[in-house]
Amino acid sequence: SFTLKKKLLLANQNIMVTAGPTYEAIDPVRFIGNHSSGKMGFAIADELATMGANVTLITGPSAEISKQQNIKRINVTSAAEMLEACADAFKTAKACIMSAAVADYTPVHVAAQKIKKQDGGFNIELKKTTDILKFLGEQKTTNQLLVGFALETNDEEQNAMNKLQHKNLDFIVLNSLNDAGAGFKKDTNKITIIDRDLQKTVFELKSKDAVARDICLKVAQLINR
Ligand code: CTP
Ligand code: CA
Repeated sequence: SFTLKKKLLLANQNIMVTAGPTYEAIDPVRFIGNHSSGKMGFAIADELATMGANVTLITGPSAEISKQQNIKRINVTSAAEMLEACADAFKTAKACIMSAAVADYTPVHVAAQKIKKQDGGFNIELKKTTDILKFLGEQKTTNQLLVGFALETNDEEQNAMNKLQHKNLDFIVLNSLNDAGAGFKKDTNKITIIDRDLQKTVFELKSKDAVARDICLKVAQLINR
């Protein structure tokens, strides 16, 4: 018998990945959130670790648990907390993969006490959160790599290309919600990767672990080129 030793494509590279949703507080017991499970981001973190990277995983609330050991997990709740953790980690990161489903809006006021119900309807005033990925795109130096995701239901490729350029990304992973088997709670995903040269690679429907492998191989290819 014999063993094949796999070359560690990302040995000793500092790579950060974000995962999960963010929760935006309304009062002490309520929040605005989304259906992101964190599965995709955790699968990417595991794959990066398998490839030898020093992984920092910045995650919103998620029930997922990492399978690999060498992952530094930072738990955050809100978009503002995720921004702070990301800005800090990016200073020493070779690459960042932004797979979190960050809230676009957050309540203007957070009530200190539980809001009591009253007669009639109820409105929550919202303001925009900071676009973390765009912020990192502005900070990015020439030897750092920035990867974003795009979740689209229509005009998928055009919208993804706009995000790629607007946020100064090296590539973007397009998730189309029109594909059966793709999306938030599933264990499978179907992606298209679009890179800076607007080169498009369409992948088959596969497990999120296998999708993570495709994404991480693309990262390794760009880092090692
Ligand atoms: N993103 C982010 N900070 C935000 C919102 C989004 O970093 N406040 C990141 C996401 O993590 C993802 C990418 O931006 O990697 C695209 O997110 P998406 O929701 O698809 O696009 P948006 O730019 O938010 O635009 P819209 O929701 O209007 O399509
Ligand atoms: Ca959004």
